[in-house]
Amino acid sequence: MKKSILSALVAFGLAFGGTSAMANEGESHVEDYAFSFEGPFGKFDQAQLQRGLQVYTEVCAACHGLRHVAFRTLGDEGGPGYSEDEVKAYAKTWDIYDPELDDTRPGKPSDKFPANTDAGAPDLSLMAKARAGFHGPYKLLVNQLFKGLGGPEYIASLLNGFTGHEKEQAGTVLYGNETFPGGYISMPPPLEDGQVEFADGSKNDVEHMAQDVAAFLMWTAEPKMMARKKAGFTAFIFLAILGSLLYLTNKKLWAPIKRKNA
Ligand code: HEC
Repeated sequence: MKKSILSALVAFGLAFGGTSAMANEGESHVEDYAFSFEGPFGKFDQAQLQRGLQVYTEVCAACHGLRHVAFRTLGDEGGPGYSEDEVKAYAKTWDIYDPELDDTRPGKPSDKFPANTDAGAPDLSLMAKARAGFHGPYKLLVNQLFKGLGGPEYIASLLNGFTGHEKEQAGTVLYGNETFPGGYISMPPPLEDGQVEFADGSKNDVEHMAQDVAAFLMWTAEPKMMARKKAGFTAFIFLAILGSLLYLTNKKLWAPIKRKNA
């Protein structure tokens, strides 16, 4: 009897493990890029965030919105780190619809980025947290402890993942992509080498622009990541010290009683 339960469990485990392993392998390919903000001490790279903002502004904004992100946050600590005047000047480059005027006017720091212009394109504000690049063995989330969810890796891989194949389906052109689940996406390859000129002379091939914009989108999705990590680490140190003090106190309190019993 016991044996049959055991073998049923083993069979179930194999079947379950097998299917999830298959789902992991799938078609989609996510490259494990090394981002500066990974790990417990990781930080956003300010220059990279500025380059990513530039890629978003010059390329992605043609279709995608960032409607949860206010221009003013571009000056926040830990972010792209622009000065107040730079934020003002940047906001002004956007036309924002003002319901009071029932017209558009130049943006102000308190405004948010506009929403999508392309109906089929999703908003990118939280995209880096809405997608996962890593699922861990058997989806146990184990390696996510070390690598994070892989949202920015997914985005960078997606932008690098175009295969050059195209097909038409129900009147829409679909573009082959080895990262997008299903292998075909309706977004045309948005980046090409040399498309954006960076003021700092950084590499502007697709591979690097994709990582820059992915890092920027991680920041829009979790602008307070660095503060969170710092608070987590402080709590860890605090608990370690408190724990050892409690251990010593406990030992000291019980010492006379233990001595008597010995
Ligand atoms: C020509 C319009 C256009 C441009 C430019 C564009 N996209 Fe897209 N994007 C789309 C559309 C349409 C979709 C929806 C695709 C689908 O679901 O098949 C999409 C989807 C996405 C997705 C979501 C994929 C998913 O897993 O659902 C991401 C991420 C993305 N785009 C990032 C970007 C970035 C970053 C840029 C700038 C480098 C960019 N896009 C430029 C039209 C565009």
